[in-house]
Amino acid sequence: MDGPAHSGNEKAPLLKGVQQSKFIAFCRRHKRIVIPVAIMILLLPLLGLIALKTRHAHARNWTSPVVYPSPQGYGAGNWSAAYVRARAMVGNMSLEEMNNVTLGVVDTTSGCVGVSGSAPQHGFPGLCFHDAGNGVRNTDGVNAYASGIHIGASWNATLAYERAQFMGAEFKRKGVNVALGPVVGPIGRIAEGGRNFEAFAADPYLDGILGAQSVIGLQESVIASIKHFVAYEQETNRNPIANNGKPISSTSANLDDQTMHELYLWPFQDLVHAGAGCAMCSYNRINNTYACENSKAMNGLLKGELNFQGFVVSDWVGQHSGLPSADAGLDMAMPTSGYWNERQLKKAVDSGALNQTRLIDMATRIVATYYQFGQDRALPLGVGMPPNLLLPHNYTDAKDSASKSSLLQQAIEGHVLVKNIKGALPLKQPKVLSIFGYDAVQQSSFVPSVLFPQSWEAIGLGTQQSIGIASNAPVQNPPEVQNGTLIVGGGSGSNTPAYISSPYDAIQSRAYDDGTAIFFDFVSTNPTVVSSSDACLVFINEYSSEVWDRPGLADPDSDTLVNNVASMCNSTVVVIHNAGIRLVDAWIDNPNVTAVIFAHLPGQDAGRAVASILYGDAGPSGRLPYTVARRSSDYGNMLGPCQADGSLSPQCDFTEGMNVDYRGFLASNTTPRYEFGYGLTYSSFVYANLQTNINATATPSDTVTPVYTNGTTNDNVNNTAIGNGGLLSLFGSVGTITASVSNTGSVAAAEVAQLYLLIPASTSNSSNPRTRVLRGFEKVLIQPNETAQVAFNLRMKDVSTWNVTRQAWVVPSGEFGVYVGKSVLDTPLTGSFTV
Ligand code: BGC
Repeated sequence: MDGPAHSGNEKAPLLKGVQQSKFIAFCRRHKRIVIPVAIMILLLPLLGLIALKTRHAHARNWTSPVVYPSPQGYGAGNWSAAYVRARAMVGNMSLEEMNNVTLGVVDTTSGCVGVSGSAPQHGFPGLCFHDAGNGVRNTDGVNAYASGIHIGASWNATLAYERAQFMGAEFKRKGVNVALGPVVGPIGRIAEGGRNFEAFAADPYLDGILGAQSVIGLQESVIASIKHFVAYEQETNRNPIANNGKPISSTSANLDDQTMHELYLWPFQDLVHAGAGCAMCSYNRINNTYACENSKAMNGLLKGELNFQGFVVSDWVGQHSGLPSADAGLDMAMPTSGYWNERQLKKAVDSGALNQTRLIDMATRIVATYYQFGQDRALPLGVGMPPNLLLPHNYTDAKDSASKSSLLQQAIEGHVLVKNIKGALPLKQPKVLSIFGYDAVQQSSFVPSVLFPQSWEAIGLGTQQSIGIASNAPVQNPPEVQNGTLIVGGGSGSNTPAYISSPYDAIQSRAYDDGTAIFFDFVSTNPTVVSSSDACLVFINEYSSEVWDRPGLADPDSDTLVNNVASMCNSTVVVIHNAGIRLVDAWIDNPNVTAVIFAHLPGQDAGRAVASILYGDAGPSGRLPYTVARRSSDYGNMLGPCQADGSLSPQCDFTEGMNVDYRGFLASNTTPRYEFGYGLTYSSFVYANLQTNINATATPSDTVTPVYTNGTTNDNVNNTAIGNGGLLSLFGSVGTITASVSNTGSVAAAEVAQLYLLIPASTSNSSNPRTRVLRGFEKVLIQPNETAQVAFNLRMKDVSTWNVTRQAWVVPSGEFGVYVGKSVLDTPLTGSFTV
């Protein structure tokens, strides 16, 4: 070394003495080249910065167009009589009274989760709102129904209707006017999404069909509030929070117009067509504007395109502005409002800041909905909903014994058998059974003091987690399983059981009939297995709740339990009560794991239902309403929620477009473990005779679609082509596709025949190719050696795509691929029709 060593902190000279002067001489000689190069070098970081900024700016560039004025409700279709009565009542109200009915009030006399303002002089008592789409929550004297995901897994529209009918009657007997459901958003974009279990399926078509039946059933008794409108796909950062004094907004769901129409808006359109009276705007932002002040969503899509005649209520504390939310189409703020209280809307009308017709429309929509669903004949508001269940109160038994068989049937039909080898199931009068797992028995306490103050969903949460819930802060280490049979998920989608039938209870009574010896261990993850066991039944669960997204898709301790039992028992039957997607690859290929059932969330009859399937009294007839991957990473960027990553304005770009769940797997050619629509029975089926009888014509390019356009109000009014749900022709039939299905096994079993279409469209691109999509299903019970005909009726909507340029649904010309069969990947019949 010719000089002293440099300490780490000293900077070394760029170039040494002699080299420096040579360098300067070189530069002088070639300054024409050197100067521009130097400028370039100096500018590079700046250019980089600009490029980075542009990229970020591009990512932040999602904006929601404004759509004003808000379309006025006018009594479309069968709403006309209700509007006549509403106009008469609201016409007599002062502006202050109108203002009063648009927001929630503090009510200490009932246990309703929300009570709206009244106009007593005019005979309007206000409305009691209560959760949820899965049963009356947090009160006594009610049944716990199967959750949305369970009904989704049943693929049974009739059952969805029946469930809602019985449930709606319970809401009514409790003095509830608005049932806060059904849920068709989230749709399940995120595999770990905390509220996926509340909706039916990770598919807009299935959600739309089952959701529409639920609206019809509920609204025989009360008003249904369809939710959450719209593109509400994650719990993480669902509400704004203050972080060290800095406000972090809710996550913005950034999506394009076509994805909005063909995926997220799709089921809502079916529910509005079915007559839904209330819609709840969601917590998230849509293209950077809060859903509850998003004029494109509420004025443009819901009230304009879908011609929604009911009223929009905010999700609880989901209102973030006064006039912008009113102008954007919000009609009622819940549970109270700091923006609209103290006559603020009236004052805004007085000062000219708010158009008076908007306030009149808000009140008219609310009162019209009240009349439309006979709430003027309802029981006194919240009469069966005591504010404090721990104090003495009148017990209102809202249950109807006529609902019992339907409740059990709902519980049975949402079970999906995915593996059954070596004739493991059904059980055949076993001599010895071993039962394991914390989920086999019901939780150790079930008392009002725990149940009601914490409203069921909070059971199992530590203090830290409860604090998180209260402050909207992310919940740390949320539970992945629940001790005790899991019958429902957590949060406002939970429901309160009258009792819990656990698997162990139900199997005990079978053991009595069959003389079976039972051994059990519900605690250990490494239990002792009796070698004489005919079968080992392992019950585990996978929990999920509102407020947080799930920490993973499989609980490692539960997997260890399964592997331990399987290592000692050559017929290990695994039952998972899963509130969402549950991976099984930790043990599924183990030959000792002979049968696996996704038991979902069956409600109070969980045990009875699973026992009837295990013993073969009922055949398993559920099919997966989502995709089970082989590994978490197969879900790609749709595994977990978008994170704020230090941003005050968290962004979530839905770059996959319409390709969520099975469409994403098809698009990326990823083989799932169990595909959407998959499920086994105790029989086998053969498909034949595919026939397509479709009479659709491609929409000519000069067709003017007569739906609401921006800038005009009420242009739907005199248009008979428009009704509930928008353009009525979309719901008209364009023909049927039929097939025959034969039961080739030896027992009666229900098959769910499914129709998928590959719709031709110029919009398909290589990074997000259009895939086949579900467009029909039929569940049929078929006797052995018998053949049933299945018919899929296609609506115009089912063969249409949303054309962004024309802002219209169009039937594209070209060849439509037809796939009929047992699941999205198992379609023995294929064909096509050309439009
Ligand atoms: C949920 C809604 C629910 C409301 C009232 C909100 O936190 O997002 O789904 O209806 O609370 O309980």
